[in-house]
Amino acid sequence: MIEREEENIPQDRVVTEGSTGEERQFEVGLRPQNLQEFVGQDEIKENLSIFIEAAKKREEPIEHVLLYGNPGLGKTTLAHIIAHELGSQIRVTSGPALERVGDLAAILSNLGRGDVLFIDEIHRMNKTIEEVLYPAMEDCALDIIVGKGPTARTLRLNLEKFTIIGATTRLSLLTSPLRDRFGATFHLNFYENNHIAQIVERSARLLNVSIDTPAVELLAHRSRRTPRISNRLLKRVRDYAEVRADGHVSESVCRSALEMLQVDHAGLDQTDRRILTAIIEKFGGGPVGLTTIAAATQEEVQTIEDVHEPFLIQIGFLERTPRGRVVTEHAYKHLRDN
Ligand SMILES: Nc1ncnc2c1ncn2[C@@H]1O[C@H](COP(=O)(O)OP(=O)(O)OP(=O)(O)O)[C@@H](O)[C@H]1O
Ligand SMILES: [Mg+2]
Repeated sequence: MIEREEENIPQDRVVTEGSTGEERQFEVGLRPQNLQEFVGQDEIKENLSIFIEAAKKREEPIEHVLLYGNPGLGKTTLAHIIAHELGSQIRVTSGPALERVGDLAAILSNLGRGDVLFIDEIHRMNKTIEEVLYPAMEDCALDIIVGKGPTARTLRLNLEKFTIIGATTRLSLLTSPLRDRFGATFHLNFYENNHIAQIVERSARLLNVSIDTPAVELLAHRSRRTPRISNRLLKRVRDYAEVRADGHVSESVCRSALEMLQVDHAGLDQTDRRILTAIIEKFGGGPVGLTTIAAATQEEVQTIEDVHEPFLIQIGFLERTPRGRVVTEHAYKHLRDN
Protein backbone atom coordinates (compact mmCIF):
# COMPACT_ATOMS: atom_id res chain seq x y z
CA MET A 1 0.00 0.00 0.00
CA ILE A 2 1.10 3.48 -0.70
CA GLU A 3 0.32 5.76 2.20
CA ARG A 4 0.35 9.50 2.16
CA GLU A 5 3.25 11.54 3.48
CA GLU A 6 3.61 12.19 7.16
CA GLU A 7 2.13 15.49 8.12
CA ASN A 8 3.82 17.77 10.53
CA ILE A 9 1.23 18.42 13.16
CA PRO A 10 2.05 19.56 16.67
CA GLN A 11 1.05 16.86 19.18
CA ASP A 12 -0.29 19.16 21.86
CA ARG A 13 -3.16 20.53 19.86
CA VAL A 14 -6.45 18.86 20.39
CA VAL A 15 -8.31 20.62 17.68
CA THR A 16 -5.99 20.31 14.69
CA GLU A 17 -8.04 18.23 12.37
CA GLY A 18 -5.43 16.28 10.46
CA SER A 19 -4.29 13.02 12.02
CA THR A 20 -0.71 12.34 13.03
CA GLY A 21 1.18 9.06 12.51
CA GLU A 22 0.61 7.56 15.95
CA GLU A 23 -2.96 8.72 15.92
CA ARG A 24 -3.63 7.06 12.60
CA GLN A 25 -3.11 3.70 14.32
CA PHE A 26 -5.60 4.70 16.96
CA GLU A 27 -8.07 5.86 14.31
CA VAL A 28 -7.84 2.67 12.32
CA GLY A 29 -8.92 0.77 15.43
CA LEU A 30 -12.03 2.91 15.81
CA ARG A 31 -12.98 2.96 12.17
CA PRO A 32 -16.41 1.54 11.39
CA GLN A 33 -16.17 -1.35 8.94
CA ASN A 34 -19.53 -1.18 7.24
CA LEU A 35 -22.27 1.29 6.39
CA GLN A 36 -24.41 0.21 9.28
CA GLU A 37 -21.72 1.03 11.82
CA PHE A 38 -21.07 4.39 10.20
CA VAL A 39 -22.95 6.89 12.36
CA GLY A 40 -24.93 9.79 10.86
CA GLN A 41 -24.72 11.21 7.32
CA ASP A 42 -27.95 9.33 6.67
CA GLU A 43 -28.59 10.74 3.24
CA ILE A 44 -25.14 9.74 2.01
CA LYS A 45 -25.52 6.28 3.49
CA GLU A 46 -28.85 5.76 1.77
CA ASN A 47 -27.56 6.97 -1.58
CA LEU A 48 -24.45 4.89 -1.25
CA SER A 49 -26.26 1.72 -0.34
CA ILE A 50 -28.49 2.03 -3.40
CA PHE A 51 -25.49 2.82 -5.56
CA ILE A 52 -23.64 -0.21 -4.23
CA GLU A 53 -26.62 -2.60 -4.34
CA ALA A 54 -27.43 -1.66 -7.93
CA ALA A 55 -23.87 -2.21 -9.09
CA LYS A 56 -23.76 -5.55 -7.29
CA LYS A 57 -26.99 -6.65 -8.94
CA ARG A 58 -25.62 -5.79 -12.35
CA GLU A 59 -22.35 -7.45 -11.37
CA GLU A 60 -20.52 -4.37 -12.44
CA PRO A 61 -17.94 -2.21 -10.71
CA ILE A 62 -19.43 1.01 -9.32
CA GLU A 63 -18.81 4.35 -10.98
CA HIS A 64 -16.05 6.61 -9.66
CA VAL A 65 -16.94 8.30 -6.39
CA LEU A 66 -15.79 11.65 -5.09
CA LEU A 67 -15.99 12.36 -1.36
CA TYR A 68 -15.49 15.84 -0.08
CA GLY A 69 -15.75 17.55 3.26
CA ASN A 70 -13.73 19.03 6.08
CA PRO A 71 -10.92 17.07 7.73
CA GLY A 72 -11.95 14.33 10.15
CA LEU A 73 -15.52 13.87 8.94
CA GLY A 74 -15.05 10.34 7.62
CA LYS A 75 -13.91 10.41 3.99
CA THR A 76 -11.18 7.81 4.40
CA THR A 77 -13.47 5.73 6.57
CA LEU A 78 -16.21 5.79 3.93
CA ALA A 79 -13.82 4.89 1.14
CA HIS A 80 -12.82 1.73 3.04
CA ILE A 81 -16.44 0.97 3.84
CA ILE A 82 -17.45 1.23 0.17
CA ALA A 83 -14.74 -1.21 -0.82
CA HIS A 84 -15.73 -3.51 2.02
CA GLU A 85 -19.41 -3.43 1.09
CA LEU A 86 -18.52 -4.23 -2.50
CA GLY A 87 -16.26 -7.04 -1.38
CA SER A 88 -13.49 -5.35 -3.35
CA GLN A 89 -9.79 -4.92 -2.81
CA ILE A 90 -8.74 -1.40 -1.98
CA ARG A 91 -5.44 0.25 -2.83
CA VAL A 92 -4.57 3.49 -1.14
CA THR A 93 -2.57 6.37 -2.51
CA SER A 94 -2.74 10.14 -2.47
CA GLY A 95 -2.45 13.11 -4.81
CA PRO A 96 0.96 14.23 -3.54
CA ALA A 97 2.32 10.64 -3.51
CA LEU A 98 1.59 10.18 -7.21
CA GLU A 99 4.61 11.97 -8.56
CA ARG A 100 5.46 10.11 -11.73
CA VAL A 101 3.32 8.78 -14.52
CA GLY A 102 5.16 5.47 -14.23
CA ASP A 103 4.01 5.05 -10.63
CA LEU A 104 0.40 5.63 -11.57
CA ALA A 105 0.68 3.33 -14.58
CA ALA A 106 2.07 0.59 -12.35
CA ILE A 107 -0.74 0.96 -9.85
CA LEU A 108 -3.47 1.07 -12.49
CA SER A 109 -2.23 -1.86 -14.50
CA ASN A 110 -2.14 -3.98 -11.35
CA LEU A 111 -5.77 -3.35 -10.48
CA GLY A 112 -8.15 -6.23 -11.00
CA ARG A 113 -11.74 -5.97 -12.15
CA GLY A 114 -13.84 -4.17 -9.54
CA ASP A 115 -10.87 -3.12 -7.43
CA VAL A 116 -11.00 0.26 -5.72
CA LEU A 117 -8.22 2.79 -5.95
CA PHE A 118 -8.53 5.34 -3.17
CA ILE A 119 -6.82 8.63 -3.98
CA ASP A 120 -6.70 10.81 -0.90
CA GLU A 121 -6.11 14.56 -1.27
CA ILE A 122 -6.94 14.22 -4.91
CA HIS A 123 -6.81 18.02 -5.34
CA ARG A 124 -3.04 17.83 -4.86
CA MET A 125 -2.42 15.65 -7.90
CA ASN A 126 -0.20 17.18 -10.56
CA LYS A 127 -1.45 18.06 -14.03
CA THR A 128 0.46 15.34 -15.90
CA ILE A 129 -0.85 12.62 -13.64
CA GLU A 130 -4.33 14.02 -13.95
CA GLU A 131 -4.20 13.82 -17.71
CA VAL A 132 -3.16 10.18 -17.61
CA LEU A 133 -6.05 9.54 -15.30
CA TYR A 134 -8.69 10.90 -17.69
CA PRO A 135 -8.68 8.03 -20.23
CA ALA A 136 -8.14 5.58 -17.38
CA MET A 137 -11.31 6.78 -15.69
CA GLU A 138 -13.32 7.10 -18.85
CA ASP A 139 -12.30 4.25 -21.08
CA CYS A 140 -10.25 2.01 -18.78
CA ALA A 141 -7.25 2.74 -20.93
CA LEU A 142 -3.77 3.98 -20.34
CA ASP A 143 -2.05 6.00 -23.04
CA ILE A 144 1.66 5.59 -22.72
CA ILE A 145 4.21 7.43 -24.81
CA VAL A 146 7.01 5.14 -25.89
CA GLY A 147 10.29 6.52 -27.21
CA LYS A 148 11.37 10.11 -27.70
CA GLY A 149 11.37 12.71 -30.44
CA PRO A 150 10.10 11.92 -33.95
CA THR A 151 9.90 8.16 -33.31
CA ALA A 152 7.77 8.57 -30.21
CA ARG A 153 4.38 6.92 -30.39
CA THR A 154 1.46 6.34 -28.11
CA LEU A 155 0.64 2.91 -26.89
CA ARG A 156 -2.78 2.19 -25.53
CA LEU A 157 -2.97 -0.29 -22.68
CA ASN A 158 -6.32 -1.68 -21.66
CA LEU A 159 -7.12 -1.84 -17.99
CA GLU A 160 -9.61 -3.86 -16.01
CA LYS A 161 -12.75 -1.97 -15.09
CA PHE A 162 -11.96 -0.45 -11.71
CA THR A 163 -13.32 2.29 -9.44
CA ILE A 164 -11.58 5.39 -8.21
CA ILE A 165 -12.67 6.88 -4.93
CA GLY A 166 -11.26 10.36 -4.57
CA ALA A 167 -11.26 12.35 -1.33
CA THR A 168 -10.73 16.04 -0.94
CA THR A 169 -11.18 18.82 1.58
CA ARG A 170 -11.16 21.35 -1.26
CA LEU A 171 -13.62 20.67 -4.02
CA SER A 172 -12.93 24.09 -5.54
CA LEU A 173 -9.34 23.11 -6.30
CA LEU A 174 -10.41 20.24 -8.54
CA THR A 175 -10.44 20.97 -12.24
CA SER A 176 -13.83 20.56 -13.86
CA PRO A 177 -12.72 17.82 -16.30
CA LEU A 178 -11.64 15.77 -13.29
CA ARG A 179 -14.85 16.45 -11.36
CA ASP A 180 -16.91 15.50 -14.40
CA ARG A 181 -15.40 12.04 -14.47
CA PHE A 182 -16.92 11.07 -11.15
CA GLY A 183 -20.28 9.34 -11.41
CA ALA A 184 -21.25 10.35 -7.89
CA THR A 185 -20.12 13.09 -5.55
CA PHE A 186 -20.92 13.07 -1.85
CA HIS A 187 -20.50 16.01 0.46
CA LEU A 188 -19.85 15.13 4.10
CA ASN A 189 -21.15 17.80 6.39
CA PHE A 190 -20.51 18.54 10.05
CA TYR A 191 -22.38 16.03 12.25
CA GLU A 192 -25.42 16.56 14.45
CA ASN A 193 -24.54 16.58 18.13
CA ASN A 194 -26.57 13.43 18.81
CA HIS A 195 -24.60 11.59 16.14
CA ILE A 196 -21.33 12.71 17.67
CA ALA A 197 -22.64 11.45 21.01
CA GLN A 198 -23.29 8.05 19.42
CA ILE A 199 -19.76 8.03 18.05
CA VAL A 200 -18.35 8.85 21.49
CA GLU A 201 -20.37 6.00 23.00
CA ARG A 202 -19.23 3.59 20.36
CA SER A 203 -15.58 4.58 20.76
CA ALA A 204 -15.82 4.39 24.55
CA ARG A 205 -17.16 0.86 24.21
CA LEU A 206 -14.35 -0.15 21.88
CA LEU A 207 -11.72 1.43 24.13
CA ASN A 208 -13.27 0.07 27.32
CA VAL A 209 -13.77 3.49 28.81
CA SER A 210 -16.42 3.79 31.45
CA ILE A 211 -18.23 7.04 30.87
CA ASP A 212 -21.49 8.60 32.10
CA THR A 213 -24.16 9.81 29.68
CA PRO A 214 -23.84 13.47 30.76
CA ALA A 215 -20.09 13.22 30.12
CA VAL A 216 -20.76 11.78 26.66
CA GLU A 217 -23.05 14.70 25.93
CA LEU A 218 -20.60 17.24 27.24
CA LEU A 219 -17.82 15.79 25.12
CA ALA A 220 -20.01 15.59 22.05
CA HIS A 221 -20.95 19.20 22.47
CA ARG A 222 -17.35 20.32 22.42
CA SER A 223 -16.14 18.17 19.55
CA ARG A 224 -16.70 20.68 16.75
CA ARG A 225 -19.25 18.29 15.27
CA THR A 226 -16.29 16.26 13.99
CA PRO A 227 -15.76 12.54 14.73
CA ARG A 228 -11.97 12.79 14.71
CA ILE A 229 -12.08 15.51 17.36
CA SER A 230 -14.55 13.58 19.51
CA ASN A 231 -12.36 10.47 19.44
CA ARG A 232 -9.31 12.52 20.21
CA LEU A 233 -10.98 14.29 23.12
CA LEU A 234 -12.27 10.99 24.47
CA LYS A 235 -8.73 9.65 24.52
CA ARG A 236 -7.41 12.71 26.36
CA VAL A 237 -10.28 12.68 28.83
CA ARG A 238 -9.67 9.00 29.51
CA ASP A 239 -6.00 9.72 30.27
CA TYR A 240 -7.05 12.48 32.61
CA ALA A 241 -9.56 10.23 34.38
CA GLU A 242 -6.93 7.56 34.87
CA VAL A 243 -4.35 9.92 36.32
CA ARG A 244 -6.47 12.40 38.25
CA ALA A 245 -9.42 10.19 39.21
CA ASP A 246 -10.30 6.50 39.40
CA GLY A 247 -10.52 6.00 35.65
CA HIS A 248 -14.26 6.55 35.41
CA VAL A 249 -15.28 9.51 33.26
CA SER A 250 -17.98 11.35 35.16
CA GLU A 251 -19.33 14.67 34.02
CA SER A 252 -17.14 16.60 36.46
CA VAL A 253 -13.99 14.69 35.49
CA CYS A 254 -14.83 15.36 31.86
CA ARG A 255 -15.38 19.04 32.54
CA SER A 256 -12.05 19.42 34.36
CA ALA A 257 -10.21 17.55 31.62
CA LEU A 258 -11.68 19.79 28.93
CA GLU A 259 -10.79 22.83 30.98
CA MET A 260 -7.22 21.65 31.22
CA LEU A 261 -7.19 21.10 27.47
CA GLN A 262 -8.57 24.62 27.10
CA VAL A 263 -11.48 23.50 24.99
CA ASP A 264 -14.30 25.87 25.89
CA HIS A 265 -18.01 25.13 25.90
CA ALA A 266 -18.43 26.01 22.23
CA GLY A 267 -15.57 23.66 21.34
CA LEU A 268 -13.14 26.49 20.63
CA ASP A 269 -9.47 25.99 21.42
CA GLN A 270 -6.78 28.61 22.08
CA THR A 271 -6.09 29.09 18.39
CA ASP A 272 -9.72 29.78 17.53
CA ARG A 273 -9.87 32.29 20.33
CA ARG A 274 -6.59 33.85 19.25
CA ILE A 275 -7.89 34.26 15.72
CA LEU A 276 -11.10 35.90 16.84
CA THR A 277 -9.32 38.12 19.36
CA ALA A 278 -6.75 39.22 16.80
CA ILE A 279 -9.45 40.22 14.33
CA ILE A 280 -11.27 42.14 17.05
CA GLU A 281 -8.30 43.81 18.68
CA LYS A 282 -6.11 44.54 15.71
CA PHE A 283 -8.64 45.03 12.93
CA GLY A 284 -11.72 46.33 14.65
CA GLY A 285 -13.56 43.05 14.08
CA GLY A 286 -12.88 42.99 10.33
CA PRO A 287 -13.29 42.74 7.43
CA VAL A 288 -9.73 41.52 7.15
CA GLY A 289 -8.00 39.20 4.70
CA LEU A 290 -6.88 35.69 5.53
CA THR A 291 -3.16 36.33 4.99
CA THR A 292 -3.31 39.30 7.34
CA ILE A 293 -5.00 37.16 9.99
CA ALA A 294 -2.36 34.49 9.49
CA ALA A 295 0.43 37.01 9.93
CA ALA A 296 -1.17 38.50 13.03
CA THR A 297 -1.68 35.11 14.70
CA GLN A 298 1.44 33.42 13.33
CA GLU A 299 -0.66 30.57 12.01
CA GLU A 300 -0.45 29.02 8.56
CA VAL A 301 -2.99 30.33 6.07
CA GLN A 302 -3.95 26.77 5.20
CA THR A 303 -4.50 25.74 8.82
CA ILE A 304 -6.80 28.67 9.34
CA GLU A 305 -8.63 27.99 6.10
CA ASP A 306 -8.98 24.21 6.53
CA VAL A 307 -9.34 23.80 10.25
CA HIS A 308 -10.44 26.91 12.11
CA GLU A 309 -12.43 28.96 9.66
CA PRO A 310 -14.96 26.33 8.51
CA PHE A 311 -15.95 25.60 12.08
CA LEU A 312 -16.09 29.24 13.14
CA ILE A 313 -18.29 29.98 10.15
CA GLN A 314 -20.43 26.92 10.82
CA ILE A 315 -21.22 28.03 14.38
CA GLY A 316 -21.83 31.59 13.25
CA PHE A 317 -18.77 33.19 14.87
CA LEU A 318 -17.18 34.33 11.65
CA GLU A 319 -18.47 35.54 8.32
CA ARG A 320 -16.76 35.49 4.98
CA THR A 321 -17.47 38.65 2.99
CA PRO A 322 -16.00 39.83 -0.32
CA ARG A 323 -13.80 42.23 1.64
CA GLY A 324 -12.56 39.70 4.15
CA ARG A 325 -13.46 37.93 7.38
CA VAL A 326 -15.74 39.56 9.90
CA VAL A 327 -16.28 38.53 13.53
CA THR A 328 -19.97 38.29 14.40
CA GLU A 329 -21.85 39.66 17.40
CA HIS A 330 -22.31 36.06 18.49
CA ALA A 331 -18.55 35.61 18.81
CA TYR A 332 -18.15 38.89 20.71
CA LYS A 333 -20.69 37.67 23.21
CA HIS A 334 -19.01 34.29 23.54
CA LEU A 335 -15.61 35.86 24.19
CA ARG A 336 -17.08 38.34 26.69
CA ASP A 337 -18.84 35.61 28.65
CA ASN A 338 -15.95 33.15 28.75
N1 LIG B 1 -19.63 8.40 10.71
C1 LIG B 1 -18.70 7.95 11.55
N2 LIG B 1 -18.99 7.06 12.51
C2 LIG B 1 -18.05 6.65 13.37
N3 LIG B 1 -16.77 7.05 13.36
C3 LIG B 1 -16.41 7.91 12.41
C4 LIG B 1 -17.34 8.40 11.46
N4 LIG B 1 -16.70 9.25 10.62
C5 LIG B 1 -15.43 9.30 11.03
N5 LIG B 1 -15.24 8.50 12.11
C6 LIG B 1 -13.99 8.35 12.84
O1 LIG B 1 -13.28 9.59 12.78
C7 LIG B 1 -11.93 9.39 12.46
C8 LIG B 1 -11.55 10.27 11.29
O2 LIG B 1 -12.22 9.84 10.11
P1 LIG B 1 -11.50 9.83 8.67
O3 LIG B 1 -10.06 9.53 8.83
O4 LIG B 1 -12.29 8.93 7.81
O5 LIG B 1 -11.69 11.35 8.24
P2 LIG B 1 -11.29 12.05 6.85
O6 LIG B 1 -12.50 12.77 6.38
O7 LIG B 1 -10.67 11.07 5.95
O8 LIG B 1 -10.20 13.13 7.33
P3 LIG B 1 -8.98 13.79 6.47
O9 LIG B 1 -9.59 14.88 5.62
O10 LIG B 1 -8.09 14.40 7.53
O11 LIG B 1 -8.33 12.71 5.70
C9 LIG B 1 -11.75 7.91 12.21
O12 LIG B 1 -11.08 7.34 13.30
C10 LIG B 1 -13.13 7.32 12.15
O13 LIG B 1 -13.16 6.16 12.90
MG1 LIG C 1 -8.76 10.92 5.26
